Amino acid sequence: MYSRHSSPSNLYLGEALAAMEGTESANTTASGMGAIAPAILQLCQAGDHIVSSRTIYGGTYAFLKNFTPRFNIETAFVDITNLEQVEASITKNTKIIYCESVSNPLLEVADIEALSKIAKKHNLKLLVDNTFSPLSITPSRWGADVVFHSLTKFINGSSDTVGGVTCASQEFINSLRDVNDGANMLLGPTMDSLRAASILKNLRTLHLRMKQHSRNALYLAKKFEADGLRTVYPGLKSHKDHELFKKMMNEEYGFGGMLTIDAGSLEKANELMELMQERNLGYLAVSLGFYKTLFSAPGSSTSSEIPMEEQKEMGLGEGLIRISIGLDNDIERTYQMMNQCMKDIGILK
Ligand SMILES: Cc1ncc(COP(=O)(O)O)c(C=O)c1O
Repeated sequence: MYSRHSSPSNLYLGEALAAMEGTESANTTASGMGAIAPAILQLCQAGDHIVSSRTIYGGTYAFLKNFTPRFNIETAFVDITNLEQVEASITKNTKIIYCESVSNPLLEVADIEALSKIAKKHNLKLLVDNTFSPLSITPSRWGADVVFHSLTKFINGSSDTVGGVTCASQEFINSLRDVNDGANMLLGPTMDSLRAASILKNLRTLHLRMKQHSRNALYLAKKFEADGLRTVYPGLKSHKDHELFKKMMNEEYGFGGMLTIDAGSLEKANELMELMQERNLGYLAVSLGFYKTLFSAPGSSTSSEIPMEEQKEMGLGEGLIRISIGLDNDIERTYQMMNQCMKDIGILK
């Protein structure tokens, strides 16, 4: 076959990721969006309908909100934790339920098993973006039909590439690669094979990295919460989906490396992030899953595609800081330094 269809290195990486996600097969792509957009287009015709979580990555949101309507594919955005609302939004034209296992940036947890039951009942496909929780959650175990990752994040782990993957049945992966009507074959979001080889090398250490990301994030989340900061982390008992995450999780990998805190206002959020960067605690950057801690204010960056009104409605406050916790060896020292930054800008006494 021609290399846009497949190449040995892409197939090796795909095999490893399919094994990790417990699916029959996988197809690697040049970016996360390069996996998500073609899979949706493969499953939907003009006139079809999608039910999607409203708390998803801004690019996916923009694709469903602004791009697919050009092909007369409409999306109902719902609170994915409200299963009644999900089911009530299904129409006779619905083909897909779309969500993120742990949502960006609000860290809501989708009940994949319950969503899968609804999907099966209505003969729909359940598509789950698992970018925030590799290894911790295995969506296919709970009934997801298609699982995506932006490999750009934890899986590659060194913020030096862009990549994506679609993990699914052999039948669906074959349909994406079909030379006559496969969206991946025809739209061409193929991963470069040298890049596939380098991501496969990084994948070898993902299990150790995820354990450390999770350990450090849990430590900091507990400390921040005890300090009185509004902290959202699925590993905290105060998280509304804590028990659900616990039910789904592969315990040894923990609750993941992402947490959010609320600095009260965008000004304070920016001040804190700039100070933490200055003191070498991490970088002000929109990506995640790096060895260094990364922080951003999602309302004005990664979720800026979502209109302000809708951000407010879903609880995405201006002062929200999304933090991807790094692999720091001495997390107690990191905490002390972050705590000092918070005191210095006046959000803690
Ligand atoms: C949860 C999630 N899914 C998908 C994507 C898109 O991935 P990529 O940037 O590799 O296209 C991102 C990127 O930020 C993301 O955070």
